[in-house]
Amino acid sequence: MIHIKRNIFFGQVGIALKNKNFSLLTKAHIHYSVPPLSDKITNDHGINQIGVIGAGQMGTGIAYVAANVAKLPVKIFDLDPRKADKAFSFIERLLEKAISKERITPDQATDTKSRIEISTSISDLSSADFIIEAVVEDMDTKRKIFSELNLVTDENTILASNTSSIGITGIAAATKKPDKVIGMHFMNPVPIMRLVEIIPGLITSEHTLNVTKKLARSMKKTYTISGDAPGFISNRLLMPYINEAVIILEQKVARRDDIDTTMRLGTNTPMGPLALADLIGLDTCLSIMKVLHRELGDSKYSPAVLLQKYVDAGWLGKKTGRGFYDYEESQSYNK
Ligand SMILES: NC(=O)c1ccc[n+]([C@@H]2O[C@H](COP(=O)([O-])OP(=O)(O)OC[C@H]3O[C@@H](n4cnc5c(N)ncnc54)[C@H](O)[C@@H]3O)[C@@H](O)[C@H]2O)c1
Repeated sequence: MIHIKRNIFFGQVGIALKNKNFSLLTKAHIHYSVPPLSDKITNDHGINQIGVIGAGQMGTGIAYVAANVAKLPVKIFDLDPRKADKAFSFIERLLEKAISKERITPDQATDTKSRIEISTSISDLSSADFIIEAVVEDMDTKRKIFSELNLVTDENTILASNTSSIGITGIAAATKKPDKVIGMHFMNPVPIMRLVEIIPGLITSEHTLNVTKKLARSMKKTYTISGDAPGFISNRLLMPYINEAVIILEQKVARRDDIDTTMRLGTNTPMGPLALADLIGLDTCLSIMKVLHRELGDSKYSPAVLLQKYVDAGWLGKKTGRGFYDYEESQSYNK
């Protein structure tokens, strides 16, 4: 039986599943059988410290899960120090909520907070043995970060990207240790969504893959493995669906609420495609469509003109307070 409820921290619809044999793959309506998760956390991955680069919505969620679920020390770095501070406050709110729901004790929340450190320079992350990059979905930015990480980390440090669509092999080529580079694609919101898509690049070693699988398990995530193709499994399927919803809106085939209600009630999705686009971030959706279009060379992946216009206007969805919906009155992530 599926219960749909509001998650007040993310101000969005989350989903609680009573039947453990089902899990939610994305915010779309894909359900599939997964083995039940063990409550036992196995820390046999050999990782002593995690680094997170990018303290936006994804980096914040990843840091929270690493510190609170996998119980690992975490260092977070963002180019914008205000973002890192905001991430810490957001994690504090998540912990307060978890205490009020009696999911953790106040002492556990204190322990989790003590495991999180804000870094002011990327070189601070050199003590981490597994670093997860979660900055904007832009190949040049990611390659620059990976080439910097190549200089400040030793040969054994594993470097993961949370990219939604960009090729891991190309990102890895910015380093001198492509065997240590992997895709670790968390779903949004990270504390709730059970899936991590793992993407080995062409040169990723078996060891790197195995450590990443073990880390995902220690975060109590179920993983799937995808080949290194644009959009991987999740966004190859999800983004054209969202893009088509924007085209339908643009062509005035239907109004926003009719589009979302049709998919929510007609196909049992927790939220419609336009609300989901707002949650993901319209800039991220546009970037992913551009990657699919450029890399796969098929006009069916051409981004909707209206999507580009919203991004040009700075209407990026929940994180800026306005997208296809207006969030000014609610808790917007970046407000
Ligand atoms: N939003 C989603 O639903 C979602 C889901 C899965 C994966 N992702 C992927 O995760 C990544 C981050 O997405 P997000 O939604 O958290 O974005 P976001 O816009 O919320 O956050 C991005 C953060 O990166 C920081 N940043 C930018 N350039 C930087 C640099 N050079 N060094 C350090 N920090 C830098 C920004 O200051 C910002 O805080 C993207 O690759 C995205 O595709 C997003």
